[in-house]
Amino acid sequence: MTKQGMTPEQAAQLSMAEQHEWFRRATSRRSMLRGGLVGAGTAIVGAAGLTGTASAAPVRSAASLLPTADRPNGSTVVPFGRHISYGADPTRQMSLAWQARAAVRNPFVRIGRSPQDLGQKLHADVRVLSTLASDTSPIDSVALVSPTTIEQYYLHAELDGLRPGETYYYTVGHDGWDPRANLAVVNSFTTAPSKRGAFTFTAFGDQGISYDAVATTHLIAGQHPAFHLHAGDVSYAEGTGHGLITDSYDPKVWDSFFQQVEAVAATVPWQVAAGNHEMEPWYSPDGNGGLAARFDFAGQQQTYYSFSYGNVAVITLDANDVSYEIPANNGYSGGKQTAWLKQELAALRKRSDIDFIVVQFHHCAYSTCSSHASEGGVRQYWVPLFDAYGVDLVINGHNHVYERTDPLKGGSVTTAAPSGATVTPATQGTTYVVAGGAGNSLYSFPAKDSYDGAVDDVSPIASFVNSPGQAKTAESVAWSRVRYTGYCLLAIDSAPATRGRTSKLTVRAIDGFGAEIDRVVLARTVK
Ligand SMILES: [Fe+2]
Ligand SMILES: [Fe+2]
Repeated sequence: MTKQGMTPEQAAQLSMAEQHEWFRRATSRRSMLRGGLVGAGTAIVGAAGLTGTASAAPVRSAASLLPTADRPNGSTVVPFGRHISYGADPTRQMSLAWQARAAVRNPFVRIGRSPQDLGQKLHADVRVLSTLASDTSPIDSVALVSPTTIEQYYLHAELDGLRPGETYYYTVGHDGWDPRANLAVVNSFTTAPSKRGAFTFTAFGDQGISYDAVATTHLIAGQHPAFHLHAGDVSYAEGTGHGLITDSYDPKVWDSFFQQVEAVAATVPWQVAAGNHEMEPWYSPDGNGGLAARFDFAGQQQTYYSFSYGNVAVITLDANDVSYEIPANNGYSGGKQTAWLKQELAALRKRSDIDFIVVQFHHCAYSTCSSHASEGGVRQYWVPLFDAYGVDLVINGHNHVYERTDPLKGGSVTTAAPSGATVTPATQGTTYVVAGGAGNSLYSFPAKDSYDGAVDDVSPIASFVNSPGQAKTAESVAWSRVRYTGYCLLAIDSAPATRGRTSKLTVRAIDGFGAEIDRVVLARTVK
């Protein structure tokens, strides 16, 4: 038996909701609520029509968390870990988030059109995560003062009424901590434009906290992206990654994570997907309460969501829902996610302003990497929809390597696409990329690496598919076109065209030192 009175074997027999309920009863604490608000329900309208709206999260006043005498003076609490993401409409909405080490009163954002004019002040909401220290597995040194409960305060301001294609500047603070008096950093962000135009976005997965993760974070900045996709396994605070209440877990790893990425994430919207290391049974029946307190999902209320930027639509999925390999949350949405995906793809393909559909999620549809290879649940539930609606590009993580397939239809190669090739997804199918080399320890391939400048074609490759019952079904693979064992980042350039001409999406893979290791161009005739 573990310290929590449950073994991993027992936990594995329970659904995520059952684990959460067991934990809730075992701890009989009221402080496990997933979120709370200060200034709940208030909408503040500024002079320029900018609005800040409270979220619909469960309401709890942060003021009740600590007795008044224990509440720290706000002047000693410094906001950190700024990270932003789009609202449902990236041309007009942005969600700003940050963290405070202790409860604060009246958290706010100051925002304006120039760094010298942060004339509007908008209230922020607080979402609190409360974790008994005895439930954690600290990875850091033992503190001199060891609180029995770890409280994490995430502040969120959801901005609406912004102008398309406009750069805004902001600082954050709270009662007792005025960013102007403290010479705080002024950050900026830029909303999506209302018209089609060229832009770049970046993507990776499996980051964690390491010097390699620092390096890939800064590689993002070097690409000047409009936004960044994070394909899951974000901080590895949940260290085991099985989604079990008995897994090792240190919530404070998230503090270090947000500090690590703030230099980029304060300015570039980060759109995260749930990896297996994001299933945290401590906070909610679906295991996603922790992620929901820390991030925003483009104005949507669940870990599968979509947004569009110019001529590109991005769908983020929660592959824990379909994973046979790590089944803690298998089927948790009751089929809702896959039904939503079908609707979303159908609606997006009807839109004349959308050329390309990019889908990101954690577990790989197609990978030969020795550790996790391919996820049969993804192939069973989602790949037929990707084929039916002509998804152009799928971005995965989970395997800590870089790998790209030839374009596929029904799991079969339609054409060879070596680095530098142009692919026409409308006729040749979907390109699948694994970009799981963002900073956590690297995995390996059963076959030799093969990438730009070091091509070593190997086919077929003996690999496996994760199947029901956590079985691994052997398969012989002919679709693995590019393999690279190293840290990596995807940079994707969109070059939209006018009706009847060809829009291009250039997918570039960059190694941990900034050098290009792969490139493929996706081309579509504009409807
Ligand atoms: Fe990972
Ligand atoms: Fe993973």
